[in-house]
Amino acid sequence: MSPATPDAVPDRQRQVEDDLVRTVLASFDDADDPRLKELMQSLVRHLHAFIREVRLTETEWQQAIDFLTAAGHITTDRRQEFVLLSDVLGASMQTINVNNAAGEGATEATVVGPFFVDGSPEIPLGGDLAAGAPGEPCWVEGTVTDTKGNPVRGARLEVWEADDDGFYDVQYDEERVAGRAHLFTDDQGAYAFWGLTPTPYPIPHDGPVGKLLDRTGRSPLRAPHLHFMATASGLRTLITHIFVEGDELLARDAVFGVKESLIKNFTRHKAGTPTPDGRAWPEHTWSRVRFDIVLQQA
Ligand SMILES: [Fe+2]
Repeated sequence: MSPATPDAVPDRQRQVEDDLVRTVLASFDDADDPRLKELMQSLVRHLHAFIREVRLTETEWQQAIDFLTAAGHITTDRRQEFVLLSDVLGASMQTINVNNAAGEGATEATVVGPFFVDGSPEIPLGGDLAAGAPGEPCWVEGTVTDTKGNPVRGARLEVWEADDDGFYDVQYDEERVAGRAHLFTDDQGAYAFWGLTPTPYPIPHDGPVGKLLDRTGRSPLRAPHLHFMATASGLRTLITHIFVEGDELLARDAVFGVKESLIKNFTRHKAGTPTPDGRAWPEHTWSRVRFDIVLQQA
């Protein structure tokens, strides 16, 4: 038997369901913390509206419980299935949107993702963060300014990215650090470093979230990107990525992280083209991208 549609719910039944919503909402009335009360009552309103709108079956409810149970079982210190679930539902990105309105021309934020780790090595300006990770070299350069255009000297830039095989260093068993580093802007607020031309990679998809993507015909692939975190005293910390202009995955990033302003032109150069820092690589191509970062007041 198919479930009844919401419109087909008889008045008496509707009354029973309304009464339950009211009773559950009232159960939080005496919560001491007003914010917690607001969160829980709003959650109850939306959750009950969802259950009633789709006329959730008991089998479907049990499947949802089983799904969450599996997400809990696969979660460890190094694997966070609930963050993945939040990401593929767009909830992570919407929380960032709500909390990071980029005003006055400041650079927009996007998801931090699961692969940032503290303690990256420092590299000098013009240094190489790849540290042996395979991939095409990419010269990344730009400035850090505030919203009035003043250069920010000594801004700390944390940068991390996947290698050519689509893996971050922490996804390998060995302890090596590669494809991540931090550096500081110079007196003019400028920075430059060698990284890798970003390539696509799938979010971990061997668990319940991967199954969900599969069942719904969605790809686990992320649009190629390079992660940045910019911090400077008196200014708001920015966590963002830059994306590769023209990439076919921009419109269907698995975690909805792409913003138009963060799509950058990665210019490709033939093998042997002199690099900005005077190297000559006769044997391989390289790319170049500019990313000027504007930080808001704290
Ligand atoms: Fe990433």
